[in-house]
Amino acid sequence: MVAAMQAYRGGQRPATVMDRIAKGFSDDEIKAIAAWFAAQR
Ligand code: HEM
Repeated sequence: MVAAMQAYRGGQRPATVMDRIAKGFSDDEIKAIAAWFAAQR
């Protein structure tokens, strides 16, 4: 998820809206989102 969000932010991953959403988050924020997601069961 961290890799996907960073690739959206950098424009290396094709996107319709996620590129714009990912640009709003720092690396630390992306890591925090991914950690929260991984903790959901
Ligand atoms: C912090 C909020 C969000 C996070 C962390 C997030 C995360 C992700 C991730 C990890 C993927 C890749 C899924 C995969 O490849 O299996 C993805 C794809 C996608 N997400 Fe999000 N997402 C967020 C908010 C949103 C919102 C608000 C929308 C729509 C209003 C949205 C629409 C999409 C779409 C359409 C894709 C497919 C790629 C594209 O066309 O841009 N996401 N998202």
